[in-house]
Parts: sequence; C-alpha cells; structure tokens
Amino acid sequence: MGSNGKETPLSSAQIPADDFERMRTKNLARWPTGTEVDFDEAVAFHKSLPKHKQLGWVMRRAVEEGRCLTQPRGGFGTLELQLELMRALDKDGMADIVPTTTDSYTRNEQWAQAQTGIEESEREGRSMLNGYPMVNYGPVKTRQLIEAIDKPAIILSGTAFPRLTVEIGFAAGFSGYLGSAIAYTTSYTKDTSIAEGIRNYQYLDRLAALYQEHGVELHRRQPGFLTGTNIPPCIAIAVCVLDALLAAGQGVRNYGLELAQTLHLIQDAAAIKVCGELAHEYLAAAGFEDMFMPVTSLHWMGAWPQDDAQAQALVAYGGTLAAVGGAVSVTTKSTHEAYGLPTPDANAEGLRTTRMAVYMARHIRLDELPEFKSEADLIRRETRPIIDRVLEMGNGDAAIGTVKALEAGALDIPWSPNRHVRSRVMPARDADGYLRIFDPGNLVFDAEVAEIHTERLKKRAEAESVAFDHNLAVSSVYEISEPLDRLAPFPWAAE
Ligand code: 5AD
Repeated sequence: MGSNGKETPLSSAQIPADDFERMRTKNLARWPTGTEVDFDEAVAFHKSLPKHKQLGWVMRRAVEEGRCLTQPRGGFGTLELQLELMRALDKDGMADIVPTTTDSYTRNEQWAQAQTGIEESEREGRSMLNGYPMVNYGPVKTRQLIEAIDKPAIILSGTAFPRLTVEIGFAAGFSGYLGSAIAYTTSYTKDTSIAEGIRNYQYLDRLAALYQEHGVELHRRQPGFLTGTNIPPCIAIAVCVLDALLAAGQGVRNYGLELAQTLHLIQDAAAIKVCGELAHEYLAAAGFEDMFMPVTSLHWMGAWPQDDAQAQALVAYGGTLAAVGGAVSVTTKSTHEAYGLPTPDANAEGLRTTRMAVYMARHIRLDELPEFKSEADLIRRETRPIIDRVLEMGNGDAAIGTVKALEAGALDIPWSPNRHVRSRVMPARDADGYLRIFDPGNLVFDAEVAEIHTERLKKRAEAESVAFDHNLAVSSVYEISEPLDRLAPFPWAAE
C-alpha cells in the first residue's frame, strides 16, 4: 500500500520504509503469535548464535573451502516430533543444514485448520500434518528447535504466501529461508496472480534485508521447481536469475540458487556452472555487483522408483552429480520418496548415503571436457535470449517483465498448474540422455539452437522406434520411476 492507501503499482523497486512498516503491522496482526515477534530481540538472538549456526556465514564458508554441504527436507506436526526429527537429522544424518518444512495448511495460511492438525497429532501420538505449523507455535516456542541443534536451520515453505511464516521463522532464529516469487507461484498455485506472488516475496526479501541492515546476514534461497516434472536448464536458470533480480531489488545480497538434477552428469555440471555465471552477469548489469549466489543441486524432483535398491542408487547418484558439478550444497531425498514423507531414520540414511557419494566424488570435475564445454555453451545460447526478452518486455524491470512474459509465454514453465502461465513448452530426454526441448512454445529460441534440440530428439525417436511426438516428453517424466525389470532387463532373453 502506498501512503495514500492505494496499492503501489508493481515494480522491482525497493518497498519504501514507511510502507513496509505499515505492511508489517497489518501482517503481524493476522494471528495471535504475530504479537510475539520482537524484531530487536530477534536481531540480538541471531547475533548471539555461533557462526556455524548462521546459514549466511556457513554458505560463504562452504564456497571458500569448496565444500558440498548436505541438507534434507523435513517437517512434522508437533513441536515434540519436530524437535526429535531435527536432532536426528543433525546427529544421525550429519546434516550440514537442518530444515523445517511447514505443513500445507500453514503454506496456504489456513492456521485454524493447522491448529486442528496439531490437536489431532497430539491425540494420535503421530504427525497428522505434512510439516511443522510454524505460525501456530509462534517464535517463542519455535526457538526451541534452533536451540536443539548445533547446525544452521532453514525454513522450507513451498508457498506463494510466506509473509507471516517468515516473520515467525526469522524471529525464532532460523537463518535461512527457501522460496521465491516466480518458482513458487508457478509451482504451487492455480489462480494466484504472478504479481501477487511477487509482492509477497518482495515483503519477505525486504524483511531479510532489514535484518542485514541491522547486522544479521541471513541466507535467502531460490527453490528451483516443484512441479514434479522435467525442467530444462535454460528455464530453471532464467527463473533463478529473474528471482535473484527481484530479491536484490529489495536489498538481499546472500541469495542461493537451486537447480533440480536432470540426472545427466555433464548437463547438470554445465547447468550449475552456467547458472552461477549468468546470475552474476545479469545482476552486475543491473547494478548489483556484490551478490553472493551459491548454487545448490536438488536430488531428482520427478517421480521416484518404489524399489528400495533403485531409490538408493538415485540418492547416491544425486550426491555424485552435486559434487562433480561443484554445487555448494545438495538437497537430499530418501528411499521413502515414492511413498510419502520419510521417517527420521530413512531421512538420515538418505543424508549419509549422499554424504558418502559427495566424499568419493569430491576431487572430480568435468569442466575441461569438450562435451562439457559444448553443453555449457548451448545452455548459455538458450538462456540469454529468454532473460533478455523478459527484461525487454518490462523495459528493464524484472517484476513487470516477468508478469508480461509469463502471460505471453515468452517465459514459460512446463506443466505449471498456474493459469497465468502458458505451459506450452515441453521438454524431453534425447538419445544421449540430455534434457532437450521438444516444443519451445513461445520461448525465444534461436533457429539454430532449436534445430539441435529437434535433431537429437528425432534421433531418440528413431532409436526407440517411437513417433516423434509429445509422448517423448511424457515418458521422460515417468522413466526413472519404472521398475528395473522394465527399465533395464537382461537384454538377451529368449526371443
Ligand atoms: N518431510 C520430509 N520431506 C518433505 N518433503 C515435503 N514435505 C516434507 C516433510 N514434511 C519433500 C519431499 C517432496 C519434496 C518437495 O519435499 O521429498 O518430494
């Protein structure tokens, strides 16, 4: 809201201080625990934490030392269960970063239902929510989670409505927050406008920057995509850069970028490298020269196999991909992924499997391989025109450009549930295992680049004796979850 009570037009500009103060007052009044938020006390608490429990510092240190940190996801419906989980992830799982995932009611600001979920969980003695209801517990109780572990803690809240959750979480002592306007609004909502998602995350980023201005460097992070499908590197990177521009506009400087694994070792390594590179290039061009933007690699975000052995391989391979790609951290899954939320034990095991794989691959880099170089080059050629077009459509303003470009399909997300997204672009795996684009929809895609994609996908259709059509895209989504005897049977069975 502007000072005249009217809504300020959408732009990338920083929210003015007096507007922000009014917005905060209104926001904190929405649930009783909002009154427990005491900004100055929170700043003092963050400053009292040892450095190794502050994620902003830990991420910088990891980059300096060339480490690949491990981080799981995890959230249960009561404080007791969440305390137990976070201790298990810290100690048994050796997590370098300990998470708190919020439940779906909290993500959708349905705090009354979350309260019922807490009561049911207490009655049943097990979690009846799919995450921790952070707003209901409030910052005072939630701080017990920070005190129970000896690692930095990050909030994971897959939502386009993070305003109250972030206030509570930062006040409790969480030093990281995962989420962004473009990625989450296009992944998690159907009717929410992109502009609304952007405003909500501008609030969050302004709050993170306010802590920074008071001497507390928090870590903000873009979440990659949660659509459960394949996202080719050019789209993931373009959105990382645009989300980073939006955050920087509010004053954030410690901003991580996430890329989901394509499962092609060379493509993932090239994507991680180009993501960091292009982010710095575009942010510097916009006047943000002092950005810290480490890249995190996400374990496979598509459908998982049910078989324990297959899932175990996918967990380990995900650690290898992250380490070889030079990712600063890897977000892990477990063998329970195909079934639902992991138990603390399975979650901790996924962490240790990943950690061992990271350890074994820690010296290996592919950057000098010709195939790596040509893939990195291709990703640059795909990504730059997309970002350039978005910025052009906004006359240089990332917020306005993003809204217009998504509406027009000049920025596009495959299989997005959001009706403000065209979702015409369709990725598929090619004959060599790279994720390519079967149909670019309205994306700006250079003719020569498009030809490379088409040619490689035709090669796959030919090799598999299937039609060159959209089924190439659909089968690529489910492939990895297929049982092993279908995926890779003994090839010489009696004919
Ligand atoms: N506990 C553990 N993992 C979770 N995820 C979501 N909620 C939880 C939770 N409460 C993970 C799942 C999912 C991914 C997006 O996040 O692995 O696939």
